[in-house]
Amino acid sequence: MNRKNIAPEIPATKLIFDVDAIRADFPILRQNIHGKQLVYLDNAATAQKPERVIKTLDNYYREYNANIHRGIHTLSQKATEAYEKARVKVQHFINASSAKEIIFVRGTTEGINLVAQSYGRTRLKTGDEIIISEMEHHSNIVPWQLLCEQTGAVLRVIPMNDDGELIMEEFEKLLGKKTRIVSVGHISNALGTINPIKKIIKVAHSCNAIVLIDGAQSVPHTAIDVQTLDCDFYAFSGHKLFGPTGIGVLYGKQSLLENMPPYHGGGDMIKMVTFKKTLYNDLPYKFEAGTPHISGVIGLGEAIDYVNDIGFDTIAAYENELIDYAIREASAIAGLKLIGTARDKASILSFVMDNIHPHDIGTVLDHEGIAIRTGHHCAMPVMEHFHVPATARASFAFYNKREEVDLLMTALEKCKEVFK
Ligand code: ALA
Repeated sequence: MNRKNIAPEIPATKLIFDVDAIRADFPILRQNIHGKQLVYLDNAATAQKPERVIKTLDNYYREYNANIHRGIHTLSQKATEAYEKARVKVQHFINASSAKEIIFVRGTTEGINLVAQSYGRTRLKTGDEIIISEMEHHSNIVPWQLLCEQTGAVLRVIPMNDDGELIMEEFEKLLGKKTRIVSVGHISNALGTINPIKKIIKVAHSCNAIVLIDGAQSVPHTAIDVQTLDCDFYAFSGHKLFGPTGIGVLYGKQSLLENMPPYHGGGDMIKMVTFKKTLYNDLPYKFEAGTPHISGVIGLGEAIDYVNDIGFDTIAAYENELIDYAIREASAIAGLKLIGTARDKASILSFVMDNIHPHDIGTVLDHEGIAIRTGHHCAMPVMEHFHVPATARASFAFYNKREEVDLLMTALEKCKEVFK
């Protein structure tokens, strides 16, 4: 037995919902990979879709596919109604004060780029400062670097400690009169750290900086209330929330969005066009140029209904138990080192193993039917901090179960055998 020690038992008695019933909602989970039952542990990359989301998409294309906001015919009106109804679902989902504050974008990445270009490019000047953190995904680094190149603004980086927690005292030292924008991830995709965003927002506001929260990894795991948080912008992706790919949301405070220029020009974002002058449309349409991802929006609305029906109290309680169990089991494997050991941690288990490259771990696991992600997770500065080229990352959703964690651990022991 290669275990360093036997992980303390975590009683399963508190598991409070019927995970097998939940799993039955996800048709993709009922398949074998290389002759083994699929164990899908790559939810931070993209989550699987429940039957009712798939049916909603199917129904849209079969029954009322049409362009929105443009047609007076019945199908167009039906599609428009479903699209706008989904916007209201998103509004309530994150408790925005108005549906005008919900902008549909392609995903978190586009949401951040929109803010950088529309808000940042028109306001920032040489010497202004933008603060991000060391644990950001590239999508919350590169848009700000582009903005810095365009405006002469300067990027500042909140460092983290070796547990993968932001050093808040350093953040406070970085903040000052020149700080214009603070943009941080709610939950790190590479480490699982849950950042103290409420505090970050409050402190940043005391310096009159605006705050964008990258919520890509948080919306599937925790309830979001943008009014309580008081963030200025919040971006997330539909596909990590059990919805379709290619659709995401940018929330912005109405007072800010009203005063920002459009990001893209095209159809639907205008009131009137002449060669001399164009009048832009009202919110939120000003930011939704061209035919949007109509089915994606409607599918996202259904995904929101689905997670709301389960409830975030239930989801969070179940997932917390699962990640605690996974951490304890993984910690008992000799030669395995966890990357990201923050006290506040969501459903992500990043690790390296002695003398085995993460890609080799991924390959062996795939042959066992287990899907994980290996690589730098689009967070190369995180890899640099921990002096590793890559990690193996198992990421969990509420349809995963302890038995799958056990299968993962058995497969990791097998890796050691293969590469010893
Ligand atoms: N950002 C996604 C991930 O962490 C793709 O895997």
